[in-house]
Amino acid sequence: MKLTILGGGGFRVPLVYGALLGDRAEGRVTDVVLHDLDAGRLSAVARVLAEQAAGVPDAPAVTATTDLDEALRGADFIFSAIRVGGLEGRAADERVALDQGVLGQETVGAGGIAYGLRTVPVAVDIARRVARLAPDAWVINFTNPAGLVTEAMSRHLGNRVIGICDSPVGLGRRIARVLGANPREAWIDYVGLNHLGWVRGLRVAGRDELPRLLADPDLIGSFEEGKLFGTEWLQSLGAIPNEYLHYYYFNREAVRAYQEAEKTRGAFLRDQQARFYETMKRPDAAALATWDSTRAEREATYMSENRDAAGAGERDADDLSGGYEKVALALMRAIARDERTTLILNVRNQSTLSVLDTDAVIEVPCLVDANGAHPVAVDPLPDHATGLVCAVKAVEREVLAAAGSGSRTTAVKAFALHPLVDSVNVARRLVEGYTTEHPGLAYLK
Ligand code: G6P
Ligand code: MN
Repeated sequence: MKLTILGGGGFRVPLVYGALLGDRAEGRVTDVVLHDLDAGRLSAVARVLAEQAAGVPDAPAVTATTDLDEALRGADFIFSAIRVGGLEGRAADERVALDQGVLGQETVGAGGIAYGLRTVPVAVDIARRVARLAPDAWVINFTNPAGLVTEAMSRHLGNRVIGICDSPVGLGRRIARVLGANPREAWIDYVGLNHLGWVRGLRVAGRDELPRLLADPDLIGSFEEGKLFGTEWLQSLGAIPNEYLHYYYFNREAVRAYQEAEKTRGAFLRDQQARFYETMKRPDAAALATWDSTRAEREATYMSENRDAAGAGERDADDLSGGYEKVALALMRAIARDERTTLILNVRNQSTLSVLDTDAVIEVPCLVDANGAHPVAVDPLPDHATGLVCAVKAVEREVLAAAGSGSRTTAVKAFALHPLVDSVNVARRLVEGYTTEHPGLAYLK
C-alpha cells in the first residue's frame, strides 16, 4: 500500500513514519512517498526516517520527489500536511494581527483567516489533481486551519477527504484519566468545528461520568483544560471546551500574553526549525537525536502563553506526546482493512447539526469503516455554542468565497464578521497588512 505525504519535508513527518514502523499487521503501508517543494527539507527528513528504520525488518520504503503529480499517481492514501508560506508566514500572521490588537493564532481569529486565505487556493489545486490522478485515494488532511481546508477540498473530493486533529482525542483522554476511566471504553460526547468544540459528556457503560468531574474542584484542577478555564467557568458552562476556546473565553488575556511574549509561537518555531534544518546539512549530524530533542522542546512549550495567562503552569508529562500520527494511522487502518472504529474527525455535517447545512465540515465522532467516516447522531449544542459555531462557519464560508473569487471586499468581510475582530476598520487594516506581507495573497484584488 502506497502512502503519499504532501509536506513530506515537514518537521512532524517522523512522527507519522514512527507510527507506520509500529504497524506490523497485514495490509500495512509498504511504500512512503514524500513530496515537498524544498529538496533540502526532503533530504533532512529522509535522513531522520532512515535512522528510525535502521534495524526494523520490512520498514516501509521511502522515496522523495518535488513533482506533485508523480507523488499523487498510484497513491492509496494521501496525507496533506503542507504549510503555505512556511513558518515565516505563520510569524507574519501573528505579527500583523497583534499590531492591530487582535489574535494571530494560526487557526483562530485573524491569523486563522489569513492562513486560510493563502492555503485554500493551494489545497483546492491539490484536490483537483487528486480527483484527476488518484480518484480512488483517500486524502487525510492535517493542514491547518483543518476544518476550513478540509471543507475546501471536500468540494472537489466529496467524502474522500477527511480532516484530523489530535486535540479532541487528547481532551477525551485527559478527562477519562482524571475520572479513572479507560479512554478506550469511554464514549466522548464531543461536537463543534475544528478547534471549536465542547465535551458535553463522557459515558462509561452508559453512565455519564462528566458531572462527577464538574462537581469536584480538585479533579478539575488536575488537568490541562481545568487549569486553563478554571472551576467556576467550567461549572457555568457544564461542559469542557477544546483548549483553543481559551482564545475566545479569555481573549483579552491571551492577546496580552502574546503581545508580551519574547517571541510569538510562529517566530519561536521558525527559528527552532531553521536551526534543525541547518544542522541537518552537516554530514555528521545525528539526525534522529537532533530531531527528537527539537520535538521535545516544541511539545513542552505548546500553548505556553495561554498557560501563563491562566497561571496553569507546565504541561503534564502525560500530555506531551501529541497523537496526530495515531489518529491518522487508526483512520487509515479502519478504512484500508475495514476495521470498524470510532474517531473524532472533520467531515461533512450531513444532518448532524441542524443549524448547519449538509456540506459544512464539522468535527464530530464518526464511525469509520471501508466506506469512510460517517458522523454519528449527537445532541444539539447549547445556544452559546451554536452562536459561535454558526458565526465562525459563516466566516469560513467568506474565506472560501474570497479564495474562489479573489475579492478583497469579501476578504474584508471574512475578517470583519469574526467574533474576535472588533471593528470593520480593524478588518480593513488586517487585509492591508496581510496583503503587504504575503505574496501568496496577491490574488486578492
Ligand atoms: C495541536 C493542534 C494542532 C497543531 C499542533 C502543534 O495538536 O491540534 O492543530 O498543529 O498542536 O501546534 P504548534 O503550536 O506546536 O505548531
Ligand atoms: Mn489541530
